[in-house]
Amino acid sequence: MDINDLYDHNYVPYSKKATAAVVRSKSGKWFPGVRIENISYPLSISATQNALFYCLSEGHKPVELFTNEINMSMIPSWEKEFGFTANSLDSNELQNITFENPVLDSNINKMKQLKQLLDMAVVGESDFPVSAIVETEQGYFTGVNIECTSWNMGLCAERVAIAKALTFGSQKLISLEIHTRKGEFSSPCGACRQVIIEHLPKKQIHLHHADDSESIHFSEDLLPHSFSSSSLSNR
Ligand code: THU
Repeated sequence: MDINDLYDHNYVPYSKKATAAVVRSKSGKWFPGVRIENISYPLSISATQNALFYCLSEGHKPVELFTNEINMSMIPSWEKEFGFTANSLDSNELQNITFENPVLDSNINKMKQLKQLLDMAVVGESDFPVSAIVETEQGYFTGVNIECTSWNMGLCAERVAIAKALTFGSQKLISLEIHTRKGEFSSPCGACRQVIIEHLPKKQIHLHHADDSESIHFSEDLLPHSFSSSSLSNR
């Protein structure tokens, strides 16, 4: 996958305006991000946040961000917090970058993986790590929660995993696994439920609780009467 593919992987059914961002880490690895809109507009994930949080969720230190959302008001705050520099994205200059697909194959032990992932969470504010794995037609994509000192600028584990899967071109999200060792009952927040319903309609959501028990729920059962409107969907 290269930079041109990113525009095709955007999920922008409402604005139809595709954007892209890439982050270079201290280790020299490149992390891409695409814009992922939500029918509840404030829940949309910018390409910038997607690329940056992908980098952080894999335990890498961001050094440089290239984005065509350069005027986004949140960027200076993230720059300060995570110590990188933001630049405008010039796709021509970055033509030669190829992105390593982080997909995991279907032989993984999901519970073992979920437990290991907790150590990757960036939880300086809450010390409450959450991990998530989304199954797609390509395989499995992982996510952990990433926190910022401004709490509303962070993202939950579920959304980090979904964003990563879409960035790498997944067309079908099949199921989602969520785990935390600190909550007695692992349960996605309301905002995540709204995002889950948009990308995993009628799909199974597996909640792995602190005592190693599991409960399986259909996404619709987790958010009855979720927000939708034909006047938005048909745009
Ligand atoms: N969190 C998740 O990662 N997923 C959820 O569905 C619920 C909350 C995270 C967000 C924040 O980093 C921490 O848990 C405390 O709210």
